[in-house]
Amino acid sequence: INLHKATFTLSAPDIRRLPEDSGIEVAFAGRSNAGKSSALNTLTNQKSLARTSKTPGRTQLINVFDIGDNRRLIDLPGYGFAKVPLEMKKKWQKSLAEYLEKRLSLKGLVVLMDIRHPLKDLDSDLIEWANDCGLPVLALLTKADKLKSGKRSAEVLKVRKECQKLHENIKVQAFSSLNRIGLDSANQIICDWFVY
Ligand code: GTP
Ligand code: MG
Repeated sequence: INLHKATFTLSAPDIRRLPEDSGIEVAFAGRSNAGKSSALNTLTNQKSLARTSKTPGRTQLINVFDIGDNRRLIDLPGYGFAKVPLEMKKKWQKSLAEYLEKRLSLKGLVVLMDIRHPLKDLDSDLIEWANDCGLPVLALLTKADKLKSGKRSAEVLKVRKECQKLHENIKVQAFSSLNRIGLDSANQIICDWFVY
């Protein structure tokens, strides 16, 4: 499995427009602006595969990236961003919930949280939900470059302890798209999910 092979397949407004629900998918979820699209670009070693933005709410569709052998990476719309018209929010949060609930090929969930603001209510809800579904989770604490290494390690330990109360099969790692902290271990965990 080589994530660098990823190519853009399509953007879907809802799950009916996704590719056939077979093979293996790993999805990236998290609050708006958490760094989902940036992490995808870093993991696939491509500058602009997924669109990133300073403006939260950039990714509003379900974006599908093919890595071959019927395996896909999925960039999900961010949640929890207040400054979005209510109707729009409802619509895309619905497609997010639908994807997570119904997609059979979903085999692993990467939950991205800014290391400076981890485990907001919706993050905890998502992690608990994944546990109830028996879906393994990799929690990536993003923008780890923003903390000095001592503070960073302390934060990882703290969040890991909290996460283990919510999910029995969760891994928690620091990650940075800026200086590639945690890239190798994140890549390893995700690639393991892609192997039957
Ligand atoms: P939505 O699509 O809006 O949900 O956001 P997203 O989660 O895809 O976030 P995105 O990757 O677009 O990044 C949001 C902002 O955070 C951008 O300004 C990025 O440059 C910045 N950012 C992302 N990752 C990192 C990181 O590792 N370090 C630092 N310092 N900034 C980052
Ligand atoms: Mg995005």
